[in-house]
Amino acid sequence: MKTTAIVNSNIALVKYWGKRDEKLILPNNSNISVAYDKLNTITTVEFNLDYSKDIFILDSNEITDGPVFKKTTEHLNIIRQKAGIETRAKVVSKNNFPTAAGLASSASGFSALAFAGSKAAGLNLDQRELSILARLSGSGSASRSLIGGFAEWMKGEKADGSDSYAIQIAKPDYWPEFRIIVAIISEARKKTSSTDGMNLTVKTCPLYQGWLNTIEQDLENVRKGIAEKNFTLIGSTAEFNCLKMHATMITTQPSLIYWMPETLEIIHSVLDWRKQGLEGYFTIDAGPQVKIICLEKDVEEINNKLCSIPSVKKTIICKVGKEAILTDNHLF
Ligand code: PMV
Repeated sequence: MKTTAIVNSNIALVKYWGKRDEKLILPNNSNISVAYDKLNTITTVEFNLDYSKDIFILDSNEITDGPVFKKTTEHLNIIRQKAGIETRAKVVSKNNFPTAAGLASSASGFSALAFAGSKAAGLNLDQRELSILARLSGSGSASRSLIGGFAEWMKGEKADGSDSYAIQIAKPDYWPEFRIIVAIISEARKKTSSTDGMNLTVKTCPLYQGWLNTIEQDLENVRKGIAEKNFTLIGSTAEFNCLKMHATMITTQPSLIYWMPETLEIIHSVLDWRKQGLEGYFTIDAGPQVKIICLEKDVEEINNKLCSIPSVKKTIICKVGKEAILTDNHLF
């Protein structure tokens, strides 16, 4: 059976950085994200006896080796094992945004592979099982992408990871005024993957325990901020959480500096705008792009200011994205 899924990417307000189990992809800390309505991956999967090996086409290029191909075939193996089949698959996947540049392409990509792949293999998994399957790809944030709205990936306590999955904590239409502006300054692929980066941080960063010690308070603030629609509380917590994560990245050995000079230029601008009363907060993942969260009333002004910074190539204004869906518009 051929199946196609569309999954939105997501941005963490409280970040995941570091694993308690590298094989099962279990995080050291729970984390919370919001889905982007405009950034998505569409993936078609077909298991067919005509294929003698797995075929993977990403953004119109056939990928035949390297870490992404390896992760993809390993993920297909997990699906095959669950479904009790050995059939090879063809996977065609497209992102409507730059791949591996810090816009969480692996989150939406592996979530879409888990959703479309499991359906195509004849499995009928519920949301909890899909979230667990998605994180087994290696991209932990994939566990949050299927969920839509505001999602919390609970770290869980069990060694087998059965209690570590994402749940929706607010629906996509819960906060219609919430906006995320993505400022793209570089479309280059990042040098160190999140997987390699976070493993190095856990092993070598002297500040890592400090990061973990402050997470519970950040989670509480963001949950409260969502429940009470307290934008200032969410924004200030998300920005500080991002800075704390980057402090652990920068103090990893060798150092992981995902920021570019342009990243810092935007950081300073957002801080200046806030002093002038324009309420936006920045957040940055393992890449140079900056995302600014704000409310509808300020989105136009913040976006105009961003677009007047010469290093900003493009902005994408997003609302809160929806849950993953299946479609009959297959890519092949
Ligand atoms: O899920 P991964 O392995 O792509 O790692 C995601 C790491 C961050 O994007 C930096 C934080 C997060 O929670 O999304």
